[in-house]
Amino acid sequence: MKIAIGADHAGYRLKDVIVPMLKQLGHEVLDVGCDCADSVDYPDYAIPVCDMVVNGEAERGILICGTGIGMSIAANKTPGIRCALVHDLFSAKATREHNDTNVLAMGERVVGPGLAEEIVKVWLDTPFSQGERHLNRIRKVMGLEDKQALHP
Ligand code: RB5
Repeated sequence: MKIAIGADHAGYRLKDVIVPMLKQLGHEVLDVGCDCADSVDYPDYAIPVCDMVVNGEAERGILICGTGIGMSIAANKTPGIRCALVHDLFSAKATREHNDTNVLAMGERVVGPGLAEEIVKVWLDTPFSQGERHLNRIRKVMGLEDKQALHP
């Protein structure tokens, strides 16, 4: 799978754990940075990752900041993105089955590297359930984007 990944200065260390794991699992990784502790702005990394997912360059995106919150807020502003902030395995599975999320956000200051690796694996491996009730709810959420485009 082609996976875009980005982090800010509070998340790049966890990114440096996740990127080699993804490559070892056979995924193609598009890493937009950042790569050091110099202070940066999380939207500058969330936006390119989400753009890659929306335009088809990447199938999924992974975003990491200190809490994962800023990244998830920024990601969910991009039309076509459904981003989940996940710090447990139950949610990693459920958000794929129920929400068909295409971007995963995590917080390096919240979750340890071992659990983060397992979260990523479960999130990547779990298919969307295709359940009609879930599709209907996703359609309602994504319909908000059309509404906002008509009445900005
Ligand atoms: C950076 O200090 C921190 O605010 C950022 O990584 C993130 O947690 C924001 O939501």
